[in-house]
Amino acid sequence: MSLLDAIADQVRVCTRCPLAEGRTQAVPGAGPPDASIMFIGEAPGAEEDAQGEPFVGKAGQMLNRLLRGAELDRTDVFITNTCKCRPPSNRDPHADEVRACREHLDGQIACIRPTLICTLGRWAMHTMLEDETLSVMKLNGTVIERQGLTFVPLIHPAAGLHNENMQQPIEDGFRRLGELLRERA
Ligand code: URA
Repeated sequence: MSLLDAIADQVRVCTRCPLAEGRTQAVPGAGPPDASIMFIGEAPGAEEDAQGEPFVGKAGQMLNRLLRGAELDRTDVFITNTCKCRPPSNRDPHADEVRACREHLDGQIACIRPTLICTLGRWAMHTMLEDETLSVMKLNGTVIERQGLTFVPLIHPAAGLHNENMQQPIEDGFRRLGELLRERA
């Protein structure tokens, strides 16, 4: 068994935070173990909790479309979340829940060693860049180097489901990501 699979197994039985009590199942993440690009969202929603797969609900359909626009195939990237279990009523994860899950996420990053980590939404960006003052609207689609890792913050695809005005900035971020990948190819 690979180390990445071992982490997924640990996630499935994890009881490090109270989110374990309310979940149907944990959602470790999905994608090839040698993916060069990793996407990190916030936390599973109802559909993800039911299926055990990240981004399979409405936000996932949106993500799939945006990935195609950036000339990326979902099956080539690794997709996970800062929190591996669904928070009740889809509330934002609490800081202690994100902290409890951090070791799983850091383990996945260490195994996959992606060349690029795309954070989806403000929460994932704040968690990964450890700075709550950063604005995802300003940093959307830009490159940030931190501690030997390369990050591209992106607006969360679900933001477009709640607010039509967010659609264009979301697409702009993924378009910049596509340009960046072509430049780096
Ligand atoms: N939103 C997220 O941040 N993650 C998912 O897996 C689904 C929706």
